Amino acid sequence: MNVADSDDLRSLLIERGCSAASGPREADLLVVNTCSVREHAETRALARIRELSAIKKDTAFLWVTGCMAQRMGDKIIELIPAVDRVIGAKEIDNLETIVDSALQMHSLTVPGEQKYGVSDFVSIMRGCDNYCSYCIVPYVRGHEKSIPVDLLEKAVHRKISRGVKEITFLGQNVNSYNDNGTDFPDLLRRVHCIDGLERIRFTTSHPKDCSEKLISTMASLPKICRHVHLPVQAGSDRVLQMMNRRYTSDQYLQKIDMIRRYLPDADITTDIMVGFPSETEQEFRDTISLVSRACFTNAFMFAYSSREGTEAASMNDDIPRQEKLSRLNRLIELQTGITRKIYENNVGKQLELLITGRQEKRDQLWMGHDKGCKRVLLSCEKAEAGMILNVQAAKSSGMTLICERIP
Ligand code: 5AD
Ligand code: SF4
Repeated sequence: MNVADSDDLRSLLIERGCSAASGPREADLLVVNTCSVREHAETRALARIRELSAIKKDTAFLWVTGCMAQRMGDKIIELIPAVDRVIGAKEIDNLETIVDSALQMHSLTVPGEQKYGVSDFVSIMRGCDNYCSYCIVPYVRGHEKSIPVDLLEKAVHRKISRGVKEITFLGQNVNSYNDNGTDFPDLLRRVHCIDGLERIRFTTSHPKDCSEKLISTMASLPKICRHVHLPVQAGSDRVLQMMNRRYTSDQYLQKIDMIRRYLPDADITTDIMVGFPSETEQEFRDTISLVSRACFTNAFMFAYSSREGTEAASMNDDIPRQEKLSRLNRLIELQTGITRKIYENNVGKQLELLITGRQEKRDQLWMGHDKGCKRVLLSCEKAEAGMILNVQAAKSSGMTLICERIP
């Protein structure tokens, strides 16, 4: 979501005549777009803002945007006085006006050109109404709001005209998308008809709302990638309840079975948290067994960190940091083994590869991904970004499939 928001801001600036600076020392405007989801994200953002404030030109402007900006507001300027502006995530819809007035005021315009990749994002909704007990997102991004279908179609057409082949639809919970009765599967059907769009992805689905209609729609539409990101967070029913996730581990596993029935080759990925307040060793082991059973292609794994203002912040954050890290390492080790095995099982198989770019400094080595979420490298003389090729996986390097072109 933040990468997509940064891209939108970059486009706004470039459409108004700005161009990318060669580095932070040369820039007239520096923007740090921040995340608040874990304490670590904020610590890193503050360190980066301090670093930039020390090296920027005296005349340059420094803006802080996004979720940390929303959460901390002008406290950021008190901490780091070199910051000129704090623009919170809830102001994102007014960004155009903010940018226009700021650019006019500071005469920051030089002709520039925007380069697009072949895979790009479109946010289909903002905010979240789920209030998982650990999560800051509903507070910093506000209530759920769906963006109208016609605006989304226009955004997709605009991207395609600039060479984009693959669109990822973004929302905190895409399943609750609703524009006057058009739900998310309906939206997928509408966009699937757009000529020139080769692939459609989306993230994130909340397991409680991941419906059979969605999965059967995916199975019936060939441009939709075979990848479902379905954050599970924990394997213990007691912990899931404390997290206010509104499903049990059994219900979650039933969703996985449903996905595999419709889409046997799909990559399923997840987010998992360890060390939630009062999580016992046995409850952590419930997460371990769920992970062993679910066979995720990949997982984003985190140690719980308390976020001020959330429901969980009033619980006793009683798992020592060392214990959280030790659980996290055990989980990562298990998942890494599963990921390796899945990649190895794909050796010998045919895949549909979208080339996204060239491997740096290697003329004939191309990077991309398959129709699931697997990273692919292809050694090939004649190729270019945006091509979709049938390839065969020759070997696996653990987290990447090295492929050959099928003649
Ligand atoms: N502590 C640790 N991880 C968190 N996440 C969200 N809030 C927290 C928190 N307070 C994780 C969840 C979510 C992902 C985006 O970040 O796993 O799915
Ligand atoms: Fe946060 Fe839960 Fe909403 Fe995801 S669904 S953004 S974890 S509140």
